[in-house]
Amino acid sequence: MRRKIVAGNWKMNNDLSETEALLNDLIEQVPNTDASVMVAPAFVNLFQAFNVLKTFNVEVIAQNMHQEAKGAYTGEVSARMLKSVGIKTVILGHSERRAYFGETDELLAKKVDAALANELEIIFCFGEELEDRKAGNHFNIVENQLKNALFHLDTAAWKNIVLAYEPVWAIGTGETASPEQAQEMHAFIRKTVSEKFGDETGNGVSILYGGSVKPANAAEIFAKEDVDGGLIGGASLKAADFVAIINAI
Ligand code: G3P
Repeated sequence: MRRKIVAGNWKMNNDLSETEALLNDLIEQVPNTDASVMVAPAFVNLFQAFNVLKTFNVEVIAQNMHQEAKGAYTGEVSARMLKSVGIKTVILGHSERRAYFGETDELLAKKVDAALANELEIIFCFGEELEDRKAGNHFNIVENQLKNALFHLDTAAWKNIVLAYEPVWAIGTGETASPEQAQEMHAFIRKTVSEKFGDETGNGVSILYGGSVKPANAAEIFAKEDVDGGLIGGASLKAADFVAIINAI
């Protein structure tokens, strides 16, 4: 169901005490909003974060999960383990997982299936590299990422899917996509989903933008018709900045 979402992806930042400090800062400032507000701490801090936030209107989500249910996968975390510490939503396909850990569209399709089988909601990340955009190939890249990992699903599954378009060249670079670039790609994404699954699904899916969203640029990006919120990296690590971005939705 389409809704406004602001999610903070903390990546590999904050030990337990820093997590508690940031969350306490956040709960002092987080506004009442109709938007869904989420934070994604590292695995080791999920349960503490869940307990700190469980009486507040901020959802704790995971940054990743393994596609298998259990077994000899040293260092990995399963969907069932995430659910056991109160997690209901997982980020999949982040460009850093694709780049540094070799996650392919095919592997991500398996992760998507495992998450849905465990009744988790998914924030599915995808986006082109700078050279793709310079070559005018960015629409093909994005379309293939969607089709390879999500288009095997049935229509009903899409109620548990949130899309996050994150142009790789904008992540962590300070080089934000312009509001017009974001809107153009989000409209293309929505059209692509509608063509496959029908307008009700295409118009009902939330599509977030990620890539150097800051307090100064959030409102202009979020104001675009097909932008339903943001997946925030660096700016989510400071409560005041994250709250300013929430207030922009
Ligand atoms: O998942 C969100 C992240 O990739 C964006 O990072 O630091 O550009 O906001 P940042």
